Amino acid sequence: MEKSYPHKKPQNVLVILVSTFVFFAFTALNDSDKYSSLTDEGFYSIDTTYTDSKLSGKEIYMQACANCHGTDGKGGSVKQLGLQTPPADFTDCDFASREPDGDWIAVAHQGGPTRGFSTEMPAFGEALSVEELQRVMNYVRTFCTNDNWPRGELNLPRALVTEKAYPEDEAVFSSFIDVENEGAVTNEIVYEQRFGIRNQIEIVFPFGYSQMPGGDWSGGHMGDLAVGVKRVVYHNYESGTIFSLTGEVILPTGDTATGFGKGTTVLEPFASFGQLLPAGGFIHVQTGLEYPMLKDKAEDEAFWRAALGKSFNPNPWGRTWSPMVEMLGSKELESGTEVHWDIVPQMQVTLNKRQHIMLNVGYRIPVDDAGRDSQFMVYILWDWFDGGFFEGW
Ligand code: HEC
Repeated sequence: MEKSYPHKKPQNVLVILVSTFVFFAFTALNDSDKYSSLTDEGFYSIDTTYTDSKLSGKEIYMQACANCHGTDGKGGSVKQLGLQTPPADFTDCDFASREPDGDWIAVAHQGGPTRGFSTEMPAFGEALSVEELQRVMNYVRTFCTNDNWPRGELNLPRALVTEKAYPEDEAVFSSFIDVENEGAVTNEIVYEQRFGIRNQIEIVFPFGYSQMPGGDWSGGHMGDLAVGVKRVVYHNYESGTIFSLTGEVILPTGDTATGFGKGTTVLEPFASFGQLLPAGGFIHVQTGLEYPMLKDKAEDEAFWRAALGKSFNPNPWGRTWSPMVEMLGSKELESGTEVHWDIVPQMQVTLNKRQHIMLNVGYRIPVDDAGRDSQFMVYILWDWFDGGFFEGW
């Protein structure tokens, strides 16, 4: 039987959602005048108290960096330099393209240990200003000669639900905990691996626990395993835009009796879009369809999701905080069914110095129908390309 909640009309809900978005967008854009260009924006507040030399990025690189990193950017020999750690090879696009300028400027300004790297990478903050280091980075970027690789600046903080466009080498462990009615805990291990220049494969392994009407818990139920392939179809560093397409197959491996499986294979194609906004702001949009193979098990469904957020660093060289708000919509395609809306305020924070282990905590609030459960949501993300889980703390 349909319950009705006359005080929660979908129109009112839309007004709330849209105003929250507008408010967020406004606060993100409001301090945009502090920043002059895309590369300065966002991840670090810029310190320009040093008097700048007139040397070009290349000239500074040749004087300050080429000794160790090589005039060709490949990195000198550990033996000849008497170092323990090989200096980074800037010609390796697979490595270089995914590191945003902000992280590299932090390493060059504060020295290797600021991001959990070796002390053999010296700090240049006394000698070179952030502005000069930016010029050096612009030169360092010329060592990777293939623009096909999407730049790390387009790798926006991951939201709890909305899938991002950037291809990743990462593992994410999420828990979604129902906090009303009968309890349920759904966990998800997502493994993502890049291949080629613009592609990524992903595997999603869900499992969970649920509470019986009597109060007892039953556990270890497996959910529907999903396998997907993502491809970046467009990316543009100058405009801060990235767009990709993903095809996913969800297999009926889950336990249907406990609600952890749909009992049918589901095809899920979707598109994801990411856009940098001024002053560390960003937006993700994901939209797609779910086509169950067996129509008596599940309905065709359309979904659209968006996350709006902003990154900031209270300490310019420290942790990155990214508050976000997600808006989730879905509708079964059969005519007459209602659109479901959820809103998920959340906060992502980098946990370690290398910033490759992250935590995100949020709360999913159903807005169109107070009868559905609210959920506490959390994930731990490990960007494994950047090092082991226990490295860089
Ligand atoms: C004394 C040698 C030395 C000099 C001089 C030097 N570096 Fe390095 N650099 C290193 C070493 C060694 C590493 C590798 C550190 C590690 O992997 O733990 C490194 C790593 C880096 C990294 C990579 C961080 C990452 O994400 O992996 C950047 C960026 C960098 N250096 C920039 C510079 C810049 C810019 C200059 C000049 C202003 C410079 N370095 C000068 C030795 C040096």
